Amino acid sequence: MKTAVHFSIFLFVCTMSFAQFDTNYEESQVREFNLPNPLTTFAGEKISNISEWSEKRRPELFEFFENQVYGKVPGKLDSASFKLLEENENALNGKARRKQVEVTLSKNEKSIRFTILMFLPKKSSATPIFLGYNFFGNHTITNDANVIVSEAWAMNSEEMHISDHRLTEASRGLRGHRWAIEKILEGGFGLATIYYGEIDPDKYDLSDGLHELFYEKRQERPKNNEWGSLAAWAFGYSSALDYFEQDRDVDPTKVVVFGHSRLGKAALWAGASDQRFAGVISNASGCGGAALSKRRFGETINVINTSFPHWFCRNFKKYNNNEEALAVDQHQLLTLIAPTPVYVASAQDDQWADPKGEFLSAYHASTVYALFNKKGIATNQMPELHTPIHTAVGYHIRAGKHDVTDYDWEQYIKWANEVLELNQ
Ligand code: GCU
Repeated sequence: MKTAVHFSIFLFVCTMSFAQFDTNYEESQVREFNLPNPLTTFAGEKISNISEWSEKRRPELFEFFENQVYGKVPGKLDSASFKLLEENENALNGKARRKQVEVTLSKNEKSIRFTILMFLPKKSSATPIFLGYNFFGNHTITNDANVIVSEAWAMNSEEMHISDHRLTEASRGLRGHRWAIEKILEGGFGLATIYYGEIDPDKYDLSDGLHELFYEKRQERPKNNEWGSLAAWAFGYSSALDYFEQDRDVDPTKVVVFGHSRLGKAALWAGASDQRFAGVISNASGCGGAALSKRRFGETINVINTSFPHWFCRNFKKYNNNEEALAVDQHQLLTLIAPTPVYVASAQDDQWADPKGEFLSAYHASTVYALFNKKGIATNQMPELHTPIHTAVGYHIRAGKHDVTDYDWEQYIKWANEVLELNQ
């Protein structure tokens, strides 16, 4: 089965939940569908300039994605506070500065805490950074023994030696291959990462994590149009950005938000809902991320809502096996990020995430970037493997499986340098 490799992390969930679905991997079997035009309003009006886009079309599209796809954030925090837990001038064999900062988010007399791990280039101040969640704890991205192991709930994983829902010392460094820290530092960027489970545990239980802070008395789950886990993770990305605005070591106008897979979906929604980000990178985000839903290729809305009922808002379930009824598609999620540069990346063997659907999304979003005079993807023909496109809407497809590789990071570093106009 092609999908087996892709699911290696969550193998048991996958064998249990995906066997029942009929997945299409044949291009010839993709049915015809109508792709909604980003530049035509729901009422049929044509949009031809930035002010019409910003005043009419963007707000109605954003509202649709909020109420029907990812869910609205119900209100505002009461407070956020930041505490430097630890810093070191000579981390990674003297190549970097390390900082670990605890963020506390509070509301209704409840709070959650998460830790941002940062590696920063030694000789610079106010540095641009990549911000990305990790799946199994900050300590998995490096062998550095000083990185704190989080106490938050974790998904069990044989590969990571996690069996009792607790993160463990035994997985220190095991995800180092997904984080090209040295290349990032040499490229002039810092890296900041957070364990995503500290924001909202990735399980079908919305009574904990960030959601819980926002509940009224006796409320146990969000309303139909309110946030699932993806929107909570997106909110966490924005909370990290709130912190960067107070940290002189980081340039808060140059924070590029990055995410892989489900966290790529969260990064895209973060970029759409918070226009302070300077760039947005979706690595293999697939269904509910960059991939067009109406193609029904690989993972579908029905499959994702059934396997991960907590990711989107409950209204999104209306579209299970009913994509025709959906007034938007995921290319329009990318247009909500415009004019901020966005990069979509796919892997050839990752058919579950529908590389072609990810590419077409980037292509069809480009008309909105053009309104802003920003270069996007000029042709609907997919580029060859390892032929990256580094315009304001960026794209590449590489050989190999669902993963984050050095090749991916090399592209992100080059692209971010170009679109943020660094080194000029
Ligand atoms: C599953 C899921 C995908 C998701 C991926 C991941 O494969 O079906 O939608 O992107 O997990 O986050 O690793």
